[in-house]
Parts: sequence; C-alpha cells; structure tokens
Amino acid sequence: MLELYRAASPAVRLHTALRWATCPFGPVEAAVPSAGRVLEVGCGHGLLSLSLALGSSRRQVTGVDIDGAKVAAAGVAAAQLASGEADVAFSRVEPGWLPTDVVDAVVIADVLYLLPVEEQRRLLNASAGCLGEGGALVVKEVADQPRWKFRWNQAQETVSTRVLGITAGDGSLHFVAPSTMAGWLEDAGLRTESRALDRGYPWPHHLLVGRR
Ligand SMILES: C[S@@+](CC[C@H](N)C(=O)[O-])C[C@H]1O[C@@H](n2cnc3c(N)ncnc32)[C@H](O)[C@@H]1O
Repeated sequence: MLELYRAASPAVRLHTALRWATCPFGPVEAAVPSAGRVLEVGCGHGLLSLSLALGSSRRQVTGVDIDGAKVAAAGVAAAQLASGEADVAFSRVEPGWLPTDVVDAVVIADVLYLLPVEEQRRLLNASAGCLGEGGALVVKEVADQPRWKFRWNQAQETVSTRVLGITAGDGSLHFVAPSTMAGWLEDAGLRTESRALDRGYPWPHHLLVGRR
C-alpha cells in the first residue's frame, strides 16, 4: 500500500506511513460492501480509498476532499497502480459539498470532528440519502471514552489543525459522542451498529455502520 506513495514528497510519505500505522483501517474496510460504488468523503491522501479499491476489484471507489494538495497526492499514488489493478478516482470538492449520487457505500473516516455539529449531521443525512437498499454508511470517528485516550487525541488534533495546519478546517474541533451519532443514523432510517476499535491503540477509535 505505502509503496504507491514512492513518488510523493517526504512529508506525504511520512504522513501516510503514520496514518497507516495508527488507524485501524482493517475493520473499517471489512464493513464496506465488497462490490459496488463506494464514495469516501474526506479521503485525504487517498490511503483508505486506494486500500478499498485494491481490496476488491468489484468496488468502484471515488474519494473526494476539500484539500487540493491531498487530492493531487492521492491521484499520483493512484497513477502507480497497474492498468486495471483497481478502480479508483479522486476529486476535489468545495467545503460544504454534499453527496447526491446513489451509491452502495459512503465512507467517512476521521472527518466529521472537523465540522460544526449541524454540518456533521447534514453530511450524514445526505450520505444516508444516497444509499440504495442494502447500502452502508461507514463512519470512523473517535469516541469520548476512555477519557485519557480522548484527551490525548484532542491534544494531537489541536496541534495538527492549529499549529501544523496539516488538516484542513477552521481549527476548531467538534467531537460528538458515538451514541449521539448512532441516534442520528437511526433517525435517518439506518440500522446502526456501534463498535469500539481502540484496543491496542492510545486513540479512542470508534466505528459506526448504518445499513439501509
Ligand atoms: C484527518 S484527515 C482523514 C483523511 C482520511 N479520511 C483518512 O482516514 O486518512 C481529515 C480530512 O477531511 C478533509 N475534510 C475536512 N472537511 C471536509 C469537508 N467538508 N468535505 C470533505 N473533506 C473534508 C480534510 O481535508 C482532511 O483531508
């Protein structure tokens, strides 16, 4: 996976290597249907989208992000794939963009906390509205428990957004408890499962899967 970034800058290679090592992408991927159209909102450098596309040739994956530099890096990584190896494309969207096309899965990994709470709910409702019968909305966020992991994550994200500026956003962080978010998904008509993924990590990783 990381070898796809061999043409990237040292900063992008470092960022993607750290992200790959510190985020439990495996269980996130396992929750995504193995066939059909998959949209990843806030794809960053494209790690998860590329991994999803490489994981099943029956997925057609599109990653979108507001950060043009990250989208460009994702495109360079995708260009390293052999012809026909995986079906994946990336594009930049404007802040506030909402999905409208019907897809089989929407994936949102560590993006929502960057948006004001009402925008988080709007994006989740729009994503739920794009799902056909059997479709899945897969959301990876961080939980507010255990508290020490939550505080560690908050400190790290504050440095990323306000000091280093490596994550796009207005610098404010809006963590919503998984139980609240699960309620939103249920209200949007999805059967929702909620699962902690923090075992073995100092971050309170959490997975929500809503199915139509
Ligand atoms: C912490 S990174 C996660 C990237 C990727 N999902 C991953 O798991 O590696 C958060 C990403 O969300 C993007 N983002 C922030 N607000 C967004 C929005 N309104 N729409 C789409 N992407 C957004 C940022 O540009 C950034 O790339």
